[in-house]
Amino acid sequence: MTIASVWDFRTRARRRMPRFAFDYLDGGAGDESGIRRNIEAFDAIRLKPRMLVNIENRDLSATLFGRKWGLPFGTAPIGVGNLLWPRAEETIARAALAANIPYTISTPACTSLEDIRKIAGENAWFQLYVGRAEEMVQGLVSRAEEAGYDVMLVTVDVPTPPRRLRDIRNNFTMPFAWSPWVFWQLLIHPEWSIRTAIAGRPRFANMERYAPATTAQPLARYMSSQVTGRFDWAELKKLRDRWKGKLVPKGLLTAEDAQMAKEIGCDGVVVSNHGGRQLASLPSSIEMLPEIRAAVGPGFPLILDSGIRSGEHIVKAIASGADFVLIGRAMMYAVAGLGASGPKTAIDLLSAEMLNTMGQIGYTDIDSLKKNSPVLR
Ligand SMILES: Cc1cc2nc3c(=O)[nH]c(=O)nc-3n(C[C@H](O)[C@H](O)[C@H](O)COP(=O)(O)O)c2cc1C
Repeated sequence: MTIASVWDFRTRARRRMPRFAFDYLDGGAGDESGIRRNIEAFDAIRLKPRMLVNIENRDLSATLFGRKWGLPFGTAPIGVGNLLWPRAEETIARAALAANIPYTISTPACTSLEDIRKIAGENAWFQLYVGRAEEMVQGLVSRAEEAGYDVMLVTVDVPTPPRRLRDIRNNFTMPFAWSPWVFWQLLIHPEWSIRTAIAGRPRFANMERYAPATTAQPLARYMSSQVTGRFDWAELKKLRDRWKGKLVPKGLLTAEDAQMAKEIGCDGVVVSNHGGRQLASLPSSIEMLPEIRAAVGPGFPLILDSGIRSGEHIVKAIASGADFVLIGRAMMYAVAGLGASGPKTAIDLLSAEMLNTMGQIGYTDIDSLKKNSPVLR
């Protein structure tokens, strides 16, 4: 089947992935109405077209954090990415470098932040989870500094573990717990299983050195015990004072919080509801974006994620006030659906969809899209 949209990647991914891995990727909090709302909110936006504009030369490059990127999007941090598809993290990181877009490595990734920095160079961003163990937080920040990272996203929207019903029903843990059903899933998805056996079992490459135990179940318990409700503005301010590079809280949804982040000296904000994975009843990030933009003013970098499934959605995000967006599930569907060629195919597809959308509405570059905000209100 020829890939015509991100949904085609998802169809293929679903077929090729063990069910526990697909559900971990595809699912979300509670009844998953938050995931649906994220996508529907994008679909509901209408773009006002200008005609009789010469659109033959369109340029998708974007400026953010003082440098020019090939496209106005990067990849969102995804924990245990190599569980979704073997070597997914390094595969996406390579494609991101080739397209000159950012690749964000997650704290609970399977590839070390040092290795990702070597693969993606200055296109690598680091995402920090502030866990309970101070030694781990300080260790990760120092390592990110030493490895040469300039941009650190600090995820602030996990004050307490989420209730993801698919994962609860599947008894999903990382490292995964063996059961006859898990074994069956591995048997009926031989490509995933063989490739995983060759690549090595997915592990917490950044975090496990701080854990007191290395065997599967105690390690899984230690990792989930790291979610802490103590992380607050004072702690974020301390991180601000310590980290010399760009510091960007990820997961704010209100004008008040974005304004506060700006006041304490953050370099931007990722407006996000974690892709509907934390609480089903949160508003979508795209519906909150206009008031956040109004509060922080035009010059403050706003990056948006949650619900982006097409280049048309990316154009809508930028026209609604975002400077840049992050692609979460869509990229992982691509790599799981197509393997090594997935990330480039996804980047090319999203770019082609953006070019088409911009051409249809008469815009040739990202800045004019931002300035004119052609959204029907
Ligand atoms: C499987 C999966 C794992 C994720 N892991 C992390 C993570 O480790 N850190 C983080 O900040 N966000 C994580 N996220 C959230 C994404 O960074 C991003 O906010 C979200 O996927 C955007 O929504 P979308 O999937 O609808 O594009 C994860 C999302 C998914 C789907």
